[in-house]
Amino acid sequence: MAGPPPPCATLLVFTLLFLCTEAEGFAALQTKVFKYRIWDMDQKLLYLRNDQLVAGHLQGANAALEEKVFWVPNRSFAQARQPVILGIQNGTRCLASPAAPRPTLRLEDTDIRALPRAGDASAPFTFFRSYKDGMWRFESAANPGWFLCTSARAHEPLGLARGPDATRVLDFYFQLC
Ligand SMILES: *[C@@H]1O[C@H](CO)[C@@H](O)[C@H](O)[C@H]1NC(C)=O
Ligand SMILES: *[C@@H]1O[C@H](CO)[C@@H](O)[C@H](O)[C@H]1NC(C)=O
Repeated sequence: MAGPPPPCATLLVFTLLFLCTEAEGFAALQTKVFKYRIWDMDQKLLYLRNDQLVAGHLQGANAALEEKVFWVPNRSFAQARQPVILGIQNGTRCLASPAAPRPTLRLEDTDIRALPRAGDASAPFTFFRSYKDGMWRFESAANPGWFLCTSARAHEPLGLARGPDATRVLDFYFQLC
């Protein structure tokens, strides 16, 4: 026989709901999301093609296709390494590179504002930034020695590479919008 829950149980549920809502609100306040522009050394911008991030020169009306990068720091790592989690489309899709012998890069539908609290399962989302001569490199935290790169040819997918060569560009400009 299912009657109404006793009043104390109801009160407990409301208290828990209230605490959860408070915790969510607090965490949301703490996670400031930065909005940046990113483009590679050859002035190629990022945009989506066939649901993949590619880099190319966008002229005229196509300039509107440029994806801005939304990022948050991952405070679990030493801040000296400048760990960042990178996303596009208001941080609803994030760059991920799970540990692998030949790592690949993919876009995952996930909330950048929730990731800093997601624990070990989300380590693939972190990249270490390093700065030299006005440009940045982004090293995969899950794949040390592998960096975000564009193809030297236009309109090809963003990927990961060990070092720059004739076909890969590892250096990016990265600035507040
Ligand atoms: C971006 O996401 C935040 C948090 O979810 C939301 O408050 C904001 O309205 C979104 N902005 C746009 C332009 O969608
Ligand atoms: C942040 O770094 C910690 C420590 O390595 C890791 O456990 C966590 O998964 C990372 N979070 C993200 C979103 O990468």
